[in-house]
Amino acid sequence: MSDTALNAHADRLAGSSLRDLAEAGEIRSQALTLSAAGLEFDATKQRLDPDALAALFECARARGLEGKRDMLLSGGIVNATEGRPALHMAYRQCGHLEGSDAAALVTRTQAETRAFAERVRSGDFAPSGVTIERVVNIGIGGSDLGPRLVADALSDHAEDGPELRFVASLDPSDLKHAVAGANPAAILFIVASKSFSTQETLMSGEAARDWLAGHVGPDRAGAHFAAASAAPDKAKAFGIDPALVFDFPDWVGGRYSVWSAVGLALEIGLGPDVFEAFRDGARAMDEHFATAPLERNMPMLKGLVDVWNRIGLEYPARCVAAYSARLGKLADYFQQLEMESLGKSVTVDGKPGPTPGGALVWGGNGTEIQHSFFQWLHQGGDIVPVDFIGIRRHFASTDARERALAANMAAQGAALLDGRKVDRALEPELAAHKSMPGGRPSSTLLLDDLTPKTLGALIALHEHKVFVESVIYDINPFDQWGVELGKVLTKGILDGDISSYDASTKALLARTGLIAD
Ligand code: F6P
Repeated sequence: MSDTALNAHADRLAGSSLRDLAEAGEIRSQALTLSAAGLEFDATKQRLDPDALAALFECARARGLEGKRDMLLSGGIVNATEGRPALHMAYRQCGHLEGSDAAALVTRTQAETRAFAERVRSGDFAPSGVTIERVVNIGIGGSDLGPRLVADALSDHAEDGPELRFVASLDPSDLKHAVAGANPAAILFIVASKSFSTQETLMSGEAARDWLAGHVGPDRAGAHFAAASAAPDKAKAFGIDPALVFDFPDWVGGRYSVWSAVGLALEIGLGPDVFEAFRDGARAMDEHFATAPLERNMPMLKGLVDVWNRIGLEYPARCVAAYSARLGKLADYFQQLEMESLGKSVTVDGKPGPTPGGALVWGGNGTEIQHSFFQWLHQGGDIVPVDFIGIRRHFASTDARERALAANMAAQGAALLDGRKVDRALEPELAAHKSMPGGRPSSTLLLDDLTPKTLGALIALHEHKVFVESVIYDINPFDQWGVELGKVLTKGILDGDISSYDASTKALLARTGLIAD
């Protein structure tokens, strides 16, 4: 999509200094900073002034953002190409859904996963006579990235429980590493797959069962498996005990599924109460999203800032820089959430564009990334806005390393904003090399502390801000047709049916021996 008013404001602000904008006064700062659910969002380092912001809000109103938000939260068909709602918020007991069928179903399945988690944790579930010590989640995409992120992020909050490991790759080495050093009799495998037809997950699941059969015997191996799926019949047909198949409905999208039975490994490993607190934090963000006015609504403001950078200033990418060792998987998680949701250029009505879709998202952990790709952000030829995500407690911590971590984060935002002009008279040889252009925008997101609740709120914030962006771009954020073709072509290759493939691919396959010429 293009928006003439936004582009006019972008042209007007193109040459202005970010430092001048940042110093433009209280009204701008107040409009660009807000707090909710244990998070603070600060967009004062963005190339935005009150007039441009007003144009963004006007654009949001013109596209019916608030009405569409209500439709999402009350179970409207927001995923038109698959004819269904997107109700992952039901798993957070979102107030809008009270008394609905969705809420009733969730109450039932949450009781089931909690009871199973407690059985595993207490040692009552012991298929080979010993307490489960390791849980291996086998899944990919949304059935992997959420559990993997949360397991790591909340490891300091975990109540004593089995160790969590993850298998996503078809590379046999992944499974080998996940079971290394474990007592096979004390392992529980959870096969997490919404469709229960994902090649990687099923092949790894079968390999895990074969491996286990070699240790505890073929009769017992199956008892060490549970499943989380929206296709429970397929999970049962795979051989998983029906009592250990935890289902969820198809209105939970894969990349929105960590709240559902897909979080079973977390409920077992971190403890059901920690998992519940994680969902509570998301609910706090849901309530804020549902009720705060447009101008003071964090997912709306965050989404509109990202829209501004994408279609106003036409920046193709956004970098997520998380200043917490425990948020090492955050950029990967946001990458799927945003790029699988917004990587589309067809409108909801099926018209080709002209929307560019959402931005490319990538990132990593501060300060490590300062010593790898930040050079590119500071002096490279492209401008990529950065989201700095940090912990407010660190700023005033008594631990010098935590304060240094916070200082580094603040310094990077300042450096990107201001840059540096080295005087040629003082350094005739190196002035140009050492100068940094600045004028590179960023946002800062602070979690009061990294807790189950703030992590839940952080993820829900991003889920909702993705929805906000989708409304402005007029695309469906809940389907992912673009990943299908590769799956079909892989099958063709494995079946040996490549007559319709291009010459380059045929030659590659013949050369490498996968398919005879
Ligand atoms: O191929 C993409 C995708 O469908 C993602 O949307 C999903 O999260 C992932 O594969 C795994 O799918 P499933 O949970 O059905 O195994």
